[in-house]
Amino acid sequence: MQSRYFTINDHPQGTPARELFELHETELPALSNGEVRVRNTWLSVDPYMRGRMSGVTTYIDPFELNAPLEGAAVGEIIESLDPAFPVGTKVRHMAGWRDIAQLPGNQLEPLPYFDVPDQAYLGVLGMPGMTAWTGLNRIAEMQQGDNVLVSGAAGAVGSLAVQLAKAKGGNVVGIAGSQEKLDWLESKGVKAVSYKDKNAAQLTEALNEVCPEGFDVYYENVGGICLEAALNSLKVGARIAVCGMIARYNEDTPSAGPSNIAMILIRRARMQGFIVFDHWAHYPQFIETIGPQVASGEIDYEETIEEGLERTPDAFLKLFEGANRGKMLVKL
Ligand SMILES: NC(=O)c1ccc[n+]([C@@H]2O[C@H](COP(=O)([O-])OP(=O)(O)OC[C@H]3O[C@@H](n4cnc5c(N)ncnc54)[C@H](OP(=O)(O)O)[C@@H]3O)[C@@H](O)[C@H]2O)c1
Repeated sequence: MQSRYFTINDHPQGTPARELFELHETELPALSNGEVRVRNTWLSVDPYMRGRMSGVTTYIDPFELNAPLEGAAVGEIIESLDPAFPVGTKVRHMAGWRDIAQLPGNQLEPLPYFDVPDQAYLGVLGMPGMTAWTGLNRIAEMQQGDNVLVSGAAGAVGSLAVQLAKAKGGNVVGIAGSQEKLDWLESKGVKAVSYKDKNAAQLTEALNEVCPEGFDVYYENVGGICLEAALNSLKVGARIAVCGMIARYNEDTPSAGPSNIAMILIRRARMQGFIVFDHWAHYPQFIETIGPQVASGEIDYEETIEEGLERTPDAFLKLFEGANRGKMLVKL
């Protein structure tokens, strides 16, 4: 059986070019005992993959050049030499960026069984959803009545973070980059602020207009002027959950940190980075809480879908253009 997969041929500096990605086809070896073949139906592309392309070990190993790229995927087992995973089982695993995956059964998770489409387990009920829940509850320790600011607020992580913060009784403000995203946020009862065409002082002013008393919690997805404006807008004792800083991921020379970092001291704030995988032991608690709310429609989720394996790099690159609302996915 043939498998088609993507590789990268270099460690990019700055914004990756489309030519970085190469599509290959290979004949898969015979299945060994304990292995399965999965026909992937949905692939996830995520901002953290940019870090893995840089050739540097961070909290995770870099992608190897000219080797199949990895990422979350869901699919259906089409051949199996693992009795725990019979043919027809729907699974989630990390052998994405390809159409047919061959891997040991011990690297698979069966899909949980809420009444949601399979691809929800890559977004709202997958790693991004778990990240939103972890950052808000376990890192920022958000409390009822808190003023909560979320950057990247209409993306995969941000769109759940704002809804969870609303549901917990927060007064929630979201920063996003397009009118469509701002409208979606407003439809969820979130005060929406654009960061486009603003400097940090102008964004600070816009935040001050919608929330003059300042923020108890800042859920950080972006960095750059969003962080600088947020630091200007903290209440005393604020908590900042540093989830990501996507504005920096394509920088070819590192920019200086925010000039007003002393606001952490002045506001006696706590700023803590986190990586969701360190909190994965809490995934069962997350899915048992949030799964039914997604299935019932109480929690909404958006998807932006590219069709066909060939479009996977395009879907990935679009994350850095703000082209996605909610989770960016590839449908095979
Ligand atoms: N700590 C963890 O364990 C963990 C886990 C998952 C994700 N993350 C982080 O969480 C953040 C969100 O991830 P996601 O998967 O939910 O992605 P996402 O928000 O669905 O997609 C990326 C969004 O970021 C915004 N963006 C892109 N480039 C930007 C720039 N230069 N300046 C400002 N905004 C920019 C765009 O929205 P606009 O149109 O609003 O600009 C874009 O749609 C990322 O920083 C990611 O690295 C961290």
